[in-house]
Amino acid sequence: RGSAEVPADLAGRHVVISAGGTREPLDPVRFLGNRSSGKQGYALARTAAARGARVTLVAANSALAAPGGVDVVPVETAVQLREAVLKAASDADAVVMAAAVADFRPAVYAPGKIKKHGTADPEPVALVRNPDILAELATDRPRAGQIVVGFAAETDDVLANGRAKLARKRCDLLVVNEVGTDKTFGAEENEAVVLGADGSETSVPYGPKEALSDTVWDLVALRFPDPGA
Ligand code: CTP
Ligand code: CA
Repeated sequence: RGSAEVPADLAGRHVVISAGGTREPLDPVRFLGNRSSGKQGYALARTAAARGARVTLVAANSALAAPGGVDVVPVETAVQLREAVLKAASDADAVVMAAAVADFRPAVYAPGKIKKHGTADPEPVALVRNPDILAELATDRPRAGQIVVGFAAETDDVLANGRAKLARKRCDLLVVNEVGTDKTFGAEENEAVVLGADGSETSVPYGPKEALSDTVWDLVALRFPDPGA
């Protein structure tokens, strides 16, 4: 869309977006991480701001430049991301979880750098579950009428997996990508199906992450309980 035609349909709304990928430290120099670039979350932030929203972007380890007019909260771990998202969500009209949150973190953080011992193989790294931030938000809804959106990268039976995940997480919308080849991670473009808890299914053709973002905001705006300010 050209800037002249961007509707200010999110004016008066506060939206919270998580982006990037969490890093779970093993010791001061090493972490478990993932390949999320943050591009989809940043595109969501830019498009929401362009449509008039106040935007809080909780950014996990993304190298991308902060979008203008967006309040960026940098975080590293899943636990930090949860804190930041829940804090910002208390007065949010919508929360979109685009971040790749590590499912597990090392059970123990070594405060000093882990060293090799002789020629022995290392002990296995014990992991524990991280909190499921999306499920927690969607179940508790920090603000009445808040719209909660998740993202899921799936293989195999992509839509069936997506439907099951949407129901399990109790979110309003789930953006489902098929993973593989050059899709999703680090790519500029994306294609997806947006599943709604009301049974709706919206296909978004392969294209820029901004186009998918605008479709997400269209679907979110339709679900707001009352008109924007
Ligand atoms: N998510 C989250 N907290 C977690 C894991 C995931 O909030 N601990 C969010 C992601 O930000 C995303 C959605 O949940 O919006 C789906 O993530 P995904 O990894 O697909 O879901 P999982 O429940 O972790 O399922 P899987 O076992 O397939 O990884
Ligand atoms: Ca996961």
